[in-house]
Amino acid sequence: MARKGDIVHLVIEDVTFGSEGIARLDGQVVFVPAALPGEEVEARIVQRKRDFLRAQIVEWKTRSGHRLQPPCPHFAFCGGCVWQDVAYEYQLQLKHRIVAETLRRIGGFGEVPIHPVLASPQAFRYRNKMEFSFSAHRWILPDEPDPLPKPRDFALGFHIPGRYDKVLDIDACWLQSEENDQILQAVKAFALESGKTPWNTRTRSGFWRFLVLREGKNTGQRMINLVTYEHDSEINRRFLAFAALHSLPYTTLVNNATKSLGGVAFGESEVVLDGPGIIHETLGKFTFEISANSFFQTNSLQAENLYRKAVEFARLTGAETVFDLYCGTGSIAIFVSPYARRVVGIELVEAAVTNARRNAALNGVNNCTFEVGDIGKEFRRAWRYEERYAKPDVVIVDPPRAGVHPNGLKGILALKPERVVYVSCNPSTFARDARFLVDSGYDLVQVQPVDMFPHTAHIELVAELVKR
Ligand SMILES: C[S@@+](CC[C@H](N)C(=O)[O-])C[C@H]1O[C@@H](n2cnc3c(N)ncnc32)[C@H](O)[C@@H]1O
Repeated sequence: MARKGDIVHLVIEDVTFGSEGIARLDGQVVFVPAALPGEEVEARIVQRKRDFLRAQIVEWKTRSGHRLQPPCPHFAFCGGCVWQDVAYEYQLQLKHRIVAETLRRIGGFGEVPIHPVLASPQAFRYRNKMEFSFSAHRWILPDEPDPLPKPRDFALGFHIPGRYDKVLDIDACWLQSEENDQILQAVKAFALESGKTPWNTRTRSGFWRFLVLREGKNTGQRMINLVTYEHDSEINRRFLAFAALHSLPYTTLVNNATKSLGGVAFGESEVVLDGPGIIHETLGKFTFEISANSFFQTNSLQAENLYRKAVEFARLTGAETVFDLYCGTGSIAIFVSPYARRVVGIELVEAAVTNARRNAALNGVNNCTFEVGDIGKEFRRAWRYEERYAKPDVVIVDPPRAGVHPNGLKGILALKPERVVYVSCNPSTFARDARFLVDSGYDLVQVQPVDMFPHTAHIELVAELVKR
């Protein structure tokens, strides 16, 4: 039996949803971060649990033929793009394999058609939102010369995996536009010279907290959101002048302040420094308003494809009542609205519901109703929704990673819709929920995996379930 610290020879057989390679050693499962199927490695056992081992690669004996040179200079340390050195076509195959294996293992589905993964229209620079953290503790790279090329006590970038007190300083990110790279570098230069300190997670003090960049991929509008501990009108005035001098390519500039000690770039108060304080994005023929703190799908171009699949699987004729559970800011409901008689969206977060109503009004959509509600609580008495509106013909769900609350699932059964369209960002909880629905009278007809996040192991899917 291998012990912690042992170096072992492993042949990788598969990958997990978390992008780790899977090997076997004396009948035990070994997870190997960053390894691909077919690769042979020498690895050190770093974790021993009752059911599995985890090992870090010490040396590659054979590398997968699907590996390539990653374009990003930060790839080795950043951890954001685990598969940037893997050919995109092969990433899609891996994601298909993960969905199929998860559906088989957790849901017991062996026969369900799982279509090839829908590729993202852009494999790089696809994100419409990026969040960078300021830190007083820069992650020092192992090969940095002495004297250090950058200050030790200032960074703007990403927390690297497992080190939440330190930040890897980033100059450019291949997941955002080149314009945003320019803005990132400029904001960093300004903050460094500002006389204000970056956030220090140990003393829980500092001025600069986050830089959030948002961009309408279809509209070209761009928001710079400087998130600071407090508003400082002098800094804001100087930054405005700096942004004009350097012709920074933004359409609106805002300053959010937060005194929260947590690592969330959510402002408690906002000052609009320039422009309208919002940007717009379009999905299909619809326009959505995005403010600094509102939720919006991160990969705009692929979100449209995801929603098209949801519309297709809903098989609407224009006569149906559709319930959109976990509706967020209403983008699915609005996208579906031309094909249905009525759409009812239910969502926990009040601000999102306000956004959803606004988005519907902005687009002249008048057959959508949005309600605040906790599915886990309200769907214990799901019949109330039927009384208030009508029996839904189709229920669309797009839950968070935890999946649909058991009361939500029971409520759906009580409403007896002809079909359920399940949009999922977690194949494991989807497999569990789909099994429940299938055991309760629905057929799982087909599954369409959709790649919203190239170079990461995340995978979304849309599934069609029909009442037997
Ligand atoms: C994956 S997002 C879906 C967003 C939306 N469909 C979209 O594409 O923009 C999940 C949503 O579920 C909401 N949510 C989480 N727990 C909930 C609950 N118990 N009841 C209702 N909504 C909930 C979250 O606030 C979030 O907006």
